Amino acid sequence: MTGRLAGRTAIVTGAASGIGRETALVFAREGAAVLAVDRDADGLAETVAQGEELAVFAIDLTERGAAAAVFAACAAELGPPDTVANIAGAAGDRGIEHSTDEDLDRYVELNLGITFRMCREAVAVLGEGGSIVNTSSAVALTGMRGTAPYSAAKAAISGLARQLAADHGRRGIRVNAVAPGLIRTPATAERIDAGVFDETVTRSRPLARVGTPRDVANAFAFLASDDAAFITGVTLPVCGGWTTTRFRG
Ligand SMILES: NC(=O)c1ccc[n+]([C@@H]2O[C@H](COP(=O)([O-])OP(=O)(O)OC[C@H]3O[C@@H](n4cnc5c(N)ncnc54)[C@H](O)[C@@H]3O)[C@@H](O)[C@H]2O)c1
Repeated sequence: MTGRLAGRTAIVTGAASGIGRETALVFAREGAAVLAVDRDADGLAETVAQGEELAVFAIDLTERGAAAAVFAACAAELGPPDTVANIAGAAGDRGIEHSTDEDLDRYVELNLGITFRMCREAVAVLGEGGSIVNTSSAVALTGMRGTAPYSAAKAAISGLARQLAADHGRRGIRVNAVAPGLIRTPATAERIDAGVFDETVTRSRPLARVGTPRDVANAFAFLASDDAAFITGVTLPVCGGWTTTRFRG
């Protein structure tokens, strides 16, 4: 680790599991003071047990007022944040023909809704040098059969990054997104092991392996840091070439 987040104060959501947990740990190793946020208090305790110094805040981000409460907790525990990684989210595997209004509301809320409200708090607090990194998905960039509400919500998160980059760039705030491909986490492990993605994803891209949370956490750390000081409004795929190639092995 290079200490590229030294002196920063970061909020990382989704930090009780998978990509969010690894990102909170990498941010701490890179020198940031980190508030790890998730609705899963036990999972947050497991993240802390990995040995990095982290402050934690357990809250369901779908609750009204939750985003404001997260920023207040950060200010109280660590000081005002300058870096926000919005990683909490949940995938859905339904095509539009099987998606009820409730499915649509759920996946829009769990992905776009909580990210939108965290960003609204963030732009009110962040100043020059501030950085927001949100979580889109490879499926938002390419489309994939059978995941309409989730994919549409993640595409909106890429749009939000572009929009907020335009709105807040003159204030020195950068806003980007990371689009993970297939990453082994508790959300995907069972389906990966069952071979669900073998044909469509793993064998059909140049880097023929499943990604790791560390692959994605490293991208979050890069985009959050001053190493990415001239990068804003982008969605960075971290997908082994899934979104960028048509590969025939
Ligand atoms: N794993 C993949 O292949 C993959 C691919 C593309 C995008 N993503 C995205 O990456 C992010 C992390 O995914 P993951 O695979 O690590 O999943 P995960 O299920 O392992 O972790 C998600 C975390 O978010 C938390 N969370 C969900 N809703 C919340 C809420 N309302 N309030 C507070 N916390 C909440 C969960 O408790 C959990 O700890 C998600 O946004 C997901 O959509 C994952």
